[in-house]
Amino acid sequence: MGITAFQTDAVSPAIVRHALGHFATGVTVVTSLTAGGVPVGTTASAVSSLSLAPPLLLVCLERSSQTLAAIRDSEAFAINVLAEGQEALSANFAQRGSGASWDDVSHRLGATGNPHLDGALAVLDCRLEHCLDGGDHEIVVGRLHAVACAGAARRPLLHYQGSYASVRAA
Ligand SMILES: Cc1cc2nc3c(=O)[nH]c(=O)nc-3n(C[C@H](O)[C@H](O)[C@H](O)COP(=O)(O)O)c2cc1C
Repeated sequence: MGITAFQTDAVSPAIVRHALGHFATGVTVVTSLTAGGVPVGTTASAVSSLSLAPPLLLVCLERSSQTLAAIRDSEAFAINVLAEGQEALSANFAQRGSGASWDDVSHRLGATGNPHLDGALAVLDCRLEHCLDGGDHEIVVGRLHAVACAGAARRPLLHYQGSYASVRAA
């Protein structure tokens, strides 16, 4: 494995994408409600646990994200962890702005109003703690206050080097 060193200002978005593509992730749909009560969602893999006590999570969203705007307004969001076979849901919510359709997306609203997607592997319902600067993204920190988890029999949808993947059965 050869190492390529760059001048700091020569690291393009394409290089960042390519390099970080080697880090396999799960796939989630982060959902919220606009001030007008309209559901919004965006596919996101930049999700991480942050703190156990207090129970904090983070998701990194592009500054221009419509879902981010809704999260700021409603001060709440849900992280819906996608399961194997939910590639179409991921593709739907990766459409920019109002491109994503909710017509065929079976969901219910949680106590905070956040949409919970049926069939998700887990739903992590959060209240917004704060947003931090993250370059062209914002680091959205949420406090977990409700969870729903499917049984261990189901497997997650993964993303690796720009493609969907799945966990091989043991
Ligand atoms: C597998 C996958 C992972 C993604 N992860 C993120 C992410 O972590 N953060 C982000 O801002 N956009 C991510 N995107 C891109 C957004 O889903 C896409 O830009 C979306 O259109 C934004 O919609 P919004 O304006 O409603 O937020 C990802 C897309 C895919 C397909």
